[in-house]
Amino acid sequence: MASIFRETPRLLLRSWQDSDLPAFAAINADPNVMKYFPAPLSRAESDTMAERIRTLIQQQGWGFWAIEVKGGSPFIGFVGLTIPSNDLPCSPCVEIGWRLAAEHWGQGYASEAANCALEVAFNTLNLAEVVAFTAESNHPSRRVMTRIGMTFSGETFEHPRLPPGHPLRKHVLYRKKR
Ligand SMILES: CC(C)(COP(=O)(O)OP(=O)(O)OC[C@H]1O[C@@H](n2cnc3c(N)ncnc32)[C@H](O)[C@@H]1OP(=O)(O)O)[C@@H](O)C(=O)NCCC(=O)NCCS
Repeated sequence: MASIFRETPRLLLRSWQDSDLPAFAAINADPNVMKYFPAPLSRAESDTMAERIRTLIQQQGWGFWAIEVKGGSPFIGFVGLTIPSNDLPCSPCVEIGWRLAAEHWGQGYASEAANCALEVAFNTLNLAEVVAFTAESNHPSRRVMTRIGMTFSGETFEHPRLPPGHPLRKHVLYRKKR
């Protein structure tokens, strides 16, 4: 399948380039960005994640796209779709997710790209449903979910990759149907 890429009024949802790796590493090393994840990532961990994302887009034709501001920053993070591990209460499911550099927050970029990703999910991939989940306390991410028309299902779950008692373990699940 040919890979799917998209353009919104302000953004490109594009394939990953080697030149994105230093900026992605800086995003993943920022404790502010990684506040709702177990820990910031090292350069090697960041590069491994980018390579996994890039390979998935090549294999599936879609995934976590690299986000570029048209006429502006060449790489500000990722937004897109992924199949999470198969041991979650929503499994099997397709998840929408995002991670942007902190200097690009507060401009609506995540929501603009996420709306585009939902359009791909429902109108190109013909998915029946897309889910989103995050740590209960991650209100910036929850606001994006709401802004793009997703609904908190009332379902919460303990994330299996975090140890019992971890402050980020409790997750909230949002859903949107086609
Ligand atoms: C989650 C995350 C992407 C949200 O970023 P964000 O900048 O708050 O979200 P958006 O890009 O959609 O921007 C929306 C904000 O921009 C404002 N805004 C300014 N100009 C805008 C415009 N032209 N269009 C829309 N919104 C605009 C909105 O009012 C909104 O602000 P508010 O939330 O204070 O009301 C960001 O916090 C992040 O990358 N976090 C770290 C990674 C993470 O936690 N990911 C989720 C894990 S599940």
